[in-house]
Amino acid sequence: MVTDDTFGDLLEYIERDLDFATSHYNNSYLDRRITARMRRSGCEEYDEYFDLLRSDEDEQRELLESMSINVTGFFRNPDVWDGIADVLADLSSERRRVKIWSAACADGREPYSLSMLVHDDRRIDERGVDIVATDISRPALRTAREGVYKESRTTDIAAELEFLDSYDRYAAYDPEEGTFQISEKVKKLVTFERHDLINGRPKSGFDLVTCRNLFIYIDAEYKRAMLETISKSLREGGYLVIGKSETIPPELKSTFEAVDSRHRIYQLA
Ligand SMILES: C[S@@+](CC[C@H](N)C(=O)[O-])C[C@H]1O[C@@H](n2cnc3c(N)ncnc32)[C@H](O)[C@@H]1O
Repeated sequence: MVTDDTFGDLLEYIERDLDFATSHYNNSYLDRRITARMRRSGCEEYDEYFDLLRSDEDEQRELLESMSINVTGFFRNPDVWDGIADVLADLSSERRRVKIWSAACADGREPYSLSMLVHDDRRIDERGVDIVATDISRPALRTAREGVYKESRTTDIAAELEFLDSYDRYAAYDPEEGTFQISEKVKKLVTFERHDLINGRPKSGFDLVTCRNLFIYIDAEYKRAMLETISKSLREGGYLVIGKSETIPPELKSTFEAVDSRHRIYQLA
């Protein structure tokens, strides 16, 4: 547990002056991010780091970026994607447009996975699908719109794409650059927008919302607010997929009915 007063002052400064709502996140998560930046910048104490942060705009940018929890991947938790494919196949068989919202989409790998799946699964008619993908982070959205992903020691893009039998129809590998370029037909289904799930307005008429691996970092009160925004954005009987280690709070269990608990798939009751 974090008890240092300077830590509290630091959080207040980040919220007030840097415009990042630290009060929405849990303290142990914030402490891990701040301590990691302290290590990188050679600061041992919170007050030393606080001084640096106040005087160095580059550090402010680095800290904010590291706070936005942008870890992601194509087909993250592959077994869940079998469940998502079944939901989309059902929706597609109803023969009307299928609207999907990838909320907190990070650098775009989740919505592009949805688009690839829609193209790849014969049960789904891609001509009837629209995907809206949103995130709070502008740098993440820039990468997402570009649709170019670089492999590295820690990011094995080819392994992530192996959920598909043959991914080269959807992403072109450049061996010299070590990059994967998302194809135009995959990009065409996805529209990116900035949206804050805590303070932003609900959307409407979605058949499926994915909001995965964000709730784990968020304080319970704000998690509830986010889920309320999502419930208002779904059409009657619409589906919600959350992260594999996330749960629906007990007071919202009558709003979201589990249809596939193993894959964390719920339906608006
Ligand atoms: C761990 S990533 C999850 C990405 C993807 N859904 C996945 O499961 O791989 C969490 C994302 O939530 C975004 N985020 C944080 N706070 C947010 C907020 N209030 N509204 C919308 N997105 C937010 C971050 O910028 C980050 O890209």
